[in-house]
Amino acid sequence: MEQYLNRGIKEIIGEFPETGRILDEFNIGCTACSVGTCLLKDIVEVHNLPYEEEHALMLRIGRVIYPGVEVEVPRIERKTQPASGAIKYSPPMKTLVDEHNVIKRLLALIPRLLEGLAVTREDDRQLVLGAVDFIRSYADRFHHAKEEDILFREFGEDLEIVKSMHEEHRIGRGHVKAVIEAVESGDTAAVKEHLTAYGELLTGHIRKEDEILYPWMDRNLSTAQVGELFRKFAETDERFRETASRQTEFIRSLEKQFTCEEVTNHV
Ligand SMILES: [Fe+2]
Ligand SMILES: [Fe+2]
Repeated sequence: MEQYLNRGIKEIIGEFPETGRILDEFNIGCTACSVGTCLLKDIVEVHNLPYEEEHALMLRIGRVIYPGVEVEVPRIERKTQPASGAIKYSPPMKTLVDEHNVIKRLLALIPRLLEGLAVTREDDRQLVLGAVDFIRSYADRFHHAKEEDILFREFGEDLEIVKSMHEEHRIGRGHVKAVIEAVESGDTAAVKEHLTAYGELLTGHIRKEDEILYPWMDRNLSTAQVGELFRKFAETDERFRETASRQTEFIRSLEKQFTCEEVTNHV
């Protein structure tokens, strides 16, 4: 069993597909991960499984790899102890979670925004371009800049989980670029396709950051590092103050617009 702990999880799933299904049962989405070069032993550390769950997971994986053999499950060494109860974020991490909450408000509006959309109409064109402006200036330049330029660098760009987050940011930017091109060429179907794909990607991405990445990072940061992150994030907040307030206002007006339309439609 020990030798498998140092093997890439994607490689193990490739050889033993049942292990992917077992990981899914434990809410560890390695099969859907875009990079997935983590080692099996990293999975336990990063996902912060309680010891009993770690044992149950490794036992099931061991039985798939060595059918019919009673496997000895090793306790994986961790740098930090598993946490219990609800997630408590450090102050800088909490600001990122709060920004996710603003981004999620746009993601929630995407299906309604796409209903009956035709980018050949000027109003609809402006609506999509407004959403794209929010994504580019708030989600990407402001929020992702904090992650990519400050937080991820604190942990090193070579870390598998960081690479995976970078990759998802890159795929997201590709969808946004495709939306803009589709608006320019008047291709409503392509706008719908890429904006929907962006919404799905970001929903999963935010969930991974809120539930897995940030708590894991918090467990590995020293008090001095938390303080330094807080200071750097505050500087970024100051630089983007106008953008953040303008875009939050945009979301508010969009929510009002769609809520009003719903009320009118039901009268
Ligand atoms: Fe991110
Ligand atoms: Fe994020």
